[in-house]
Amino acid sequence: MFQANLSQDGAIVTLSDGGDTARFHAIWLRDNAWDEQTRAPGNGQRLIALRDIDAKVHITEARMAGGQLHLLFAPEGRSIAYDPAWLMENSYDGKDQRASGWLADGAEAWDASLMGNVPTGDFNAVQSDPSARAAWLAQIARYGFAKLQNGPIEDGALFRVVDLFGHVRKTNYGDKFEVRTEVNPTNLAYTGLGLQAHTDNPYRDPVPTVQVLYCLESSAAGGENMVVDGFAAAQRLREENLDWFDVLSRHCARFEYVSDGVRLQSRRPMIELDPDGALRAVRFNNRSAAAITDVPFDEMATYYAAYRRLGEIIDDPGMEVSFRLEPGESFLVDNTRVLHARKGYSGAGTRWFQGCYADMDGIRSTLAALRAPQEEAAQ
Ligand code: FE2
Repeated sequence: MFQANLSQDGAIVTLSDGGDTARFHAIWLRDNAWDEQTRAPGNGQRLIALRDIDAKVHITEARMAGGQLHLLFAPEGRSIAYDPAWLMENSYDGKDQRASGWLADGAEAWDASLMGNVPTGDFNAVQSDPSARAAWLAQIARYGFAKLQNGPIEDGALFRVVDLFGHVRKTNYGDKFEVRTEVNPTNLAYTGLGLQAHTDNPYRDPVPTVQVLYCLESSAAGGENMVVDGFAAAQRLREENLDWFDVLSRHCARFEYVSDGVRLQSRRPMIELDPDGALRAVRFNNRSAAAITDVPFDEMATYYAAYRRLGEIIDDPGMEVSFRLEPGESFLVDNTRVLHARKGYSGAGTRWFQGCYADMDGIRSTLAALRAPQEEAAQ
C-alpha cells in the first residue's frame, strides 16, 4: 500500500510503501513520466526534450488512486499517472557518495579461490537453450570471464562463440588472429617463456572490450591459460595504499603499437574510474606501454612505486585462476577488467589457438534481453 506526500512548495514528492521511503524531485518526475505524450507507445523512446519542461515545474496535487500515483503538474496544468512500483525500483534517494574503487552491480571480485569453480558453459547448451545462454553470459558479467566447452574443432569456430552474443570487432589484425606454436627442444627456451598477465590492445581507443581465444590443437604439455581479476588487483592496491591507487587512476599512462602503416596510440589511465569512483577499466600491458609523460614530476616516483606494486599483485599466484584448454574449448574475457596470460611449456608438441575481439555491450544486451523476454516481445 503506497502513500504519497507532497512538500509545501510542490518541489518534492515522498513515496512510501510502508517499508521503503523515497523522495523524488518534481523535475525528475515530469521528465520520467510514461504517459503517451512523453514516451512513445511500444519502444518507449522519450518524445520530449528537457527544454519542453518548464524550468519552474512543480506539483500542485499528489494522490494515490487505483493503485497509481496521480500528479498534477504546474504550470502545465496536466495530471499524469505513475506506477509507484516503477518509481521505487528507480529510486535515487539514499545513493550516497561511494568510496572509489567500487564494483558495478552484479560484478564480484575474485582471486585464486575461484579455481575450483571456473565459470564454464557447454557450447551446445549455450547455443540452443536460452536459460543456459543467460547463465553463461551472467557469469561473464559477474566474473569478467568464462570458459566454453565442447565446441566444434574447425577453422573459424570462434566466430560461432561470438554469434552467441554479438559481433566481431575487426582490427588491423583482421577479423581473427592465429596463435600457432611449434614447441620442440630447440625453441623450447623461447616458447616456454610464459607471458605476464595483460589486457589486450590497450593502445586502441576504444579498447576491444571482449577477447575470445579458441583452442584447435593443444598437444604440448603446459601452456595453460591463466586469468587475473584486474578489478580485484586494483582493489587490493587501494587497500594497501590509497595514494598508489589514486596516482594510477588520476593520471594517464600511454600505450603504443607501431607496425607498417600502423601507429596506434592511446592516452588512458591504468586504473580507470567512472566519475562516481566505480572501477571502469584496467589497462596493463608491459609490451605496449609507451613512455609515461602525463604524470607531474613530483608524482612520478610515487607513480612508478604504484605501477610496480600493481604488477606484483597481478603476478601473485594467489590472484590467478588457470586452466588448460583442449581442442574445441575456448575462453572469453572482459578485456576491460580481466588480464590473461599463457604459461610456459614443459614438453614438445603443437599448439594452435585462434583469437578475435568483440564487445561487452553485446553480452550485457543479450543477457538483459534473455532475462526480460516479455519486454522483448512487446518491442
Ligand atoms: Fe593477449
